[in-house]
Amino acid sequence: MQDSDQQIREKMESVFPQIIGAVITKRGDKVNLCPINYQAISTIYEKPLTICIGLSNTGYTLETILETKEFVYAYPAKDQIHDIIHCGTLSGRNHDKLSETSLKFSPSSAVAPPHLDGAVLNYECRVVHTYAGHDDASFTILIAEIQQIVPNVDKTNLDKIYSLGGHDYGAITGVDVLQTGRE
Ligand SMILES: Cc1cc2nc3c(=O)[nH]c(=O)nc-3n(C[C@H](O)[C@H](O)[C@H](O)COP(=O)(O)O)c2cc1C
Repeated sequence: MQDSDQQIREKMESVFPQIIGAVITKRGDKVNLCPINYQAISTIYEKPLTICIGLSNTGYTLETILETKEFVYAYPAKDQIHDIIHCGTLSGRNHDKLSETSLKFSPSSAVAPPHLDGAVLNYECRVVHTYAGHDDASFTILIAEIQQIVPNVDKTNLDKIYSLGGHDYGAITGVDVLQTGRE
């Protein structure tokens, strides 16, 4: 028998915090933003630099990317949390979400979707592979090459945001260094 959603939630509690990223797309003139947790980035040593994201099959973001093959992936900063979570509650298919936020954007150099101003980091990405999963899969995995890395110029605003489990979201304010070196 398969686990219920509640059982899955309880068993996976220990994986939090999970970083929150923002997928920014552009279709025609319309810019849209979708927060996600489902992401992995290649290490800095693997070339080309690659990102993997998982998007719901019902979302406007997936529909747009399958058409345009491009997106910007941003790590929003701490002070953007409210607007970012808001964008996860509505679909760009029937909503101009961004007009309800104070988020600002600037043109990218390698792709049409713009950067998120004030984000900790933006990656300009071009899709190279999509994996739709099995017949009953509810999501699609996209693999994209990172064309440009755009760091935040404001080095005092580098706190990223995280899902903490349930509907709690926050920042991580400290780390324990447990080992220095690999021996
Ligand atoms: C913190 C957070 C994490 C989320 N993670 C994902 C994710 O990994 N993949 C996904 O498809 N949707 C995820 N969502 C849900 C989408 O953001 C949400 O369905 C959004 O409204 C889709 O917008 P769109 O239709 O404009 O693409 C997440 C939402 C939040 C708030």
